[in-house]
Amino acid sequence: MSDVSDDGVHLDPEDWGDELKPGTDLFHAQYSIDRHLKSGGFGITYLARDSLNRQVVIKECFPEGMCVRPNRVVRPRSRTYGAGVATLIQKFIGEAQSLARIDHPNVVRVHQVFEDNDTAYMVLDFIDGRELGEEIVENPLSPAEVRSALLQLLDAVAVIHDAGLLHRDISPDNIMLDADRRPVLIDFGAARDQERPANRPASTVHVVKDGYSPQELYLQGGDQGPWSDLYALAATFHHLITGEAPPNSQMRLAALAMGSPDPYLPLAGRVDGYAPAFLAAIDKALSVMAHARIQTARDWTAMITGVPAPAPRPVSQPLSEQQPQRQLSQPMPSETARPNSPLQLSPTRAAAAVATVLALGAVILAGV
Ligand SMILES: Nc1ncnc2c1ncn2[C@@H]1O[C@H](COP(=O)(O)OP(=O)(O)O)[C@@H](O)[C@H]1O
Ligand SMILES: [Mg+2]
Repeated sequence: MSDVSDDGVHLDPEDWGDELKPGTDLFHAQYSIDRHLKSGGFGITYLARDSLNRQVVIKECFPEGMCVRPNRVVRPRSRTYGAGVATLIQKFIGEAQSLARIDHPNVVRVHQVFEDNDTAYMVLDFIDGRELGEEIVENPLSPAEVRSALLQLLDAVAVIHDAGLLHRDISPDNIMLDADRRPVLIDFGAARDQERPANRPASTVHVVKDGYSPQELYLQGGDQGPWSDLYALAATFHHLITGEAPPNSQMRLAALAMGSPDPYLPLAGRVDGYAPAFLAAIDKALSVMAHARIQTARDWTAMITGVPAPAPRPVSQPLSEQQPQRQLSQPMPSETARPNSPLQLSPTRAAAAVATVLALGAVILAGV
């Protein structure tokens, strides 16, 4: 038996990877898979239909590397992974429940989470559009569209942070541009990383994206907070404006730790078509050291619009047990430190920077 893809290509089911085949029913036939969209490290994304024949997107919890699919069901690759897979399934369900608390036009809406095939699934609004990263290759955004998209996403990120959540994986491929060119944030999967390192299954991939992730996301126990999402958002907009991501934050940290200049080239004064303050705010959000960045999405919005930021809404839940959330509008204790100066590294940050330099050295040596 063979099936035919949208492109008319004959597909032999034997050749397929781990994904469910088109026509597979889920959750007592409430949903039917149309086609596979993408496989990531933690999950598989499908286009599907609900029982009313509406198009939806379904994400399946499938931690690649820890799981196999002998038939429809998902099984840990070996007994060693049993507990890890069970934990990830529970985290996936928690991620859907967290996302369900967010009601914002620029955040993908989650309809349902359910268990089937010994794993979990979440059902999302289908966004009729393209990933921002793909779209800008053919149709770059005008400066006015860039400004509007950033203000919309900052409002979305403010609401996410008010709810005590961090996205942790903001990047051009986790923002869809819908048919009206409205940006919509997707893929809250990295929220699972809030787990304590000791409880994290050994093979769980630490979610980092070179160029977009701030340096603290590379470090276990790094100082993660709203400023971390703002770095990734700024890196995304750096890409929209210049066509490429800024230099890898670990390389930037290593340069600072060695007393070398930051390889990042500020946008302010270098790019036409934007207000200098707009570009300067992106540069500030992209500071290597967390304390030198813009601390809240609302502060960033205020820097763009010139209208003072309103008081933050009450926080409904801490970011995690490890990271009690700061008063979002208050400066951090070390806020007066000068941005990007190697002399400003606190002992723990300096140690982390040195560790990064050593690790980078080891990587370079290993590659020789
Ligand atoms: N709600 C959605 N509507 C339309 N396409 C989506 C939606 N969610 C995800 N996709 C597509 O599937 C891809 C993978 O989904 P994503 O949630 O980013 O998972 P991954 O963890 O694999 O990156 C996205 O980059 C996007 O192209
Ligand atoms: Mg993604």
